[in-house]
Amino acid sequence: MAIFRWMRRRVKCCCLSCCGVMVFIVISLALFGRHMYKKEHCTEGESKKIIEDLCKLYKEGEVAGSLCNALCETEDVHYQTCTNYRKGKKVLFLTCDSCVPDKTRVTVVMKMKDELDEREKLNMFHLELDTSERQRQYVEEIEILVKNSFMFLRHNDMSKHKDILSFAWGWNFQEYLENSKDKKDAVVVALSSLWSLTEQQEYLMSRDLYNHSFTPRIYGTCGPAYFVENTQTLGNYEFEILKGWTHSWRERATIALKLIDLMKELDDLSEKLHLCDIKPDNFGLRDNGEVTLIDTDCALFEENLLMQFNHTNCTSHDDCDFFDCRGFCDTKTNKCLQERTNNNMQAVCEDVFVGYFPKMPTGLLRDPPGSIKVELFKLLQECSSPEVETDRQGVRQRVQPHTIKNLQELLHKSIGEQ
Ligand SMILES: Nc1ncnc2c1ncn2[C@@H]1O[C@H](COP(=O)(O)OP(=O)(O)O)[C@@H](O)[C@H]1O
Ligand SMILES: [Mg+2]
Repeated sequence: MAIFRWMRRRVKCCCLSCCGVMVFIVISLALFGRHMYKKEHCTEGESKKIIEDLCKLYKEGEVAGSLCNALCETEDVHYQTCTNYRKGKKVLFLTCDSCVPDKTRVTVVMKMKDELDEREKLNMFHLELDTSERQRQYVEEIEILVKNSFMFLRHNDMSKHKDILSFAWGWNFQEYLENSKDKKDAVVVALSSLWSLTEQQEYLMSRDLYNHSFTPRIYGTCGPAYFVENTQTLGNYEFEILKGWTHSWRERATIALKLIDLMKELDDLSEKLHLCDIKPDNFGLRDNGEVTLIDTDCALFEENLLMQFNHTNCTSHDDCDFFDCRGFCDTKTNKCLQERTNNNMQAVCEDVFVGYFPKMPTGLLRDPPGSIKVELFKLLQECSSPEVETDRQGVRQRVQPHTIKNLQELLHKSIGEQ
């Protein structure tokens, strides 16, 4: 009997220990999950602190910009929410009452690449700006630097811009100086604010391509932060089944047609623009159906992309890839060829139209009408994995124009527009 009692106690002990271990594992996982969530997600407190710190710099006369007053004094600009900015730039959503002329409230997106105290600063310690002649010389020096920044972006004739500083800042530079009490300080503050903006590729790109409808409008700036037009993103159109709603085929096919037009427009710019980070979240969608480029940090004009490939040693083709801009490794010389093997359209087909899980219906062109299913599947295959050059198997290649033409025709036909 005693032996049975002893065995029962042991079993009970074992059960209790197992339960203890299970509880420990569950609690640890929950804490780890919470830690990871907090690490990945922005918080309201931190986001408001970014604005507070920026306004502190503004009030101390360290930064300037067309929207500083509305953000920090009149409070026409109000914080709303943030995005998960941990891995990328700081992106906050705010409302603005003075961004459009008729005083209607709009949502704007505040963007900034670095922490405020890590912003690019001009080193001006050697400068004595007490005479107006010295100030003028200094302004001229910065004009050259800013022109060069635009030239590094794309080899473009900048001489057409008579007032490059106002163009780059989106605010009248001379007027700002004239309205400031201390001109010497104003020159330094204005130029360092402008410099911290032009050091951000996306900002520079938006100014450079301001007259294209695919560029989100910039409402204004404050120090290194810039405020742009808010739109929904194409991220809203993926993984819809998990989100519990679906957009109609007609709506999705219309967006796909707009994306195809946009890719053609980028190919036809005076210098081709390569999008090297293509995903639904990096495209915006205006209420009028226009598609915009909301993240151009990894967009490169042709010559710069080829230079990027030029400096790379390789043992496999993957070594030559610059994100979605695929390269080719010459295995005889172990150098990347100065050539992008795929094109924007291939990456859009693969990462937006088909989606991340080709076997699952997650992309924009999932779930088509039955009448076009077979043909669409074939065209999407041709578009996302083109096999054009037989000696280049296993690398992403360019989509052929006839594939795009056929895809456009099929999409038009499916929404009754032919
Ligand atoms: N102009 C905008 N309109 C709406 N949402 C935006 C805009 N800009 C950025 N976002 C949102 O913030 C996210 C991160 O911004 P993004 O510029 O892509 O930065 P990152 O370099 O971190 O990817 C985007 O994926 C999008 O969801
Ligand atoms: Mg992005």
